[in-house]
Amino acid sequence: MSVTVVEHPLIQHKLTHMRDVETSTGSFRRLLREIAALLCYEATRDLKLTTKTIATPMAEMEAPVLAGKKLVFASILRAGNGLLEGMLDLVPSARVAHIGLYRDHKTLQPVEYYFKAPDDLGARVVIAVDPMLATANSAIAAVQRLKEHGAKDVRFVCLLAAPEGVEKFQAAHPDVPVVTAAIDSHLNEKGYIVPGLGDAGDRMYGTK
Ligand code: PRP
Ligand code: URA
Repeated sequence: MSVTVVEHPLIQHKLTHMRDVETSTGSFRRLLREIAALLCYEATRDLKLTTKTIATPMAEMEAPVLAGKKLVFASILRAGNGLLEGMLDLVPSARVAHIGLYRDHKTLQPVEYYFKAPDDLGARVVIAVDPMLATANSAIAAVQRLKEHGAKDVRFVCLLAAPEGVEKFQAAHPDVPVVTAAIDSHLNEKGYIVPGLGDAGDRMYGTK
C-alpha cells in the first residue's frame, strides 16, 4: 500500500487558494478541476502501455497507446464530482461510476443512497475520487462497494487527507494506493480536517 503526496508547486499554490475562506464558489470549483487533472496525471503514472502501428506523414511506426480497457473514475457524491470533472478533462474516454454517500453528522458513518457502475469493473483500473479523506469512513465504504462489484485494481485520489483517515484507510484497503495533494494536521471533534478547507461539498456548490 502506498500514499503519494503530490508536492508539485502548481498543486500546492492552487490548494492554498482553495483553502482560503475568501475564495469564491466559482474559483473553488475551477481550482478543484485544475488540481484534479494534475492529480490524475500522478495516479495514472504506472498505467500499462502497448503499441500500435500508425503512419505519420513521414513514416510508419510502432507507437505507444494505453493497454486494456478504458479507465473507470468512481465519483463519491457529491464532492467527488468536482474532482471527476478535472480527471475527465485528462482522460475524456473514461467510464464513470457514481457512489452516492453522505456522512451522518452525528455518527460520522456513511449513508449510501445511490450506486451505479459499469458492470465489468474487474477488467478495468478503477480510480475512486473524493476531495476529502477525513475519518475515511466514506472512502472505505465506497471502495468496499466497488470491490463487491468486482473491482480488483483500485486507486483512491483525494485533495486533502487527515493522518487518522490515511491510517484507517490503509488498514481497511492495504491494496489501494492513495494519491493526495496534502496530509493535514488532524481531525477536530466534529470530524473535520484541520486546517483543511471546510466542507468541500458546501464550498463547491454554495450550500450550508
Ligand atoms: C464529505 C467528503 C467525503 C466525506 C469525508 O462528504 O466529500 O465524502 O465527507 O469524510 P469521512 O472521511 O469522514 O467519511 P459529505 O458527507 O459532506 O457529503 P457531500 O459530498 O454530499 O457534501
Ligand atoms: N468532509 C469535508 O467536506 N471536509 C472535512 O474537513 C471533512 C469531511
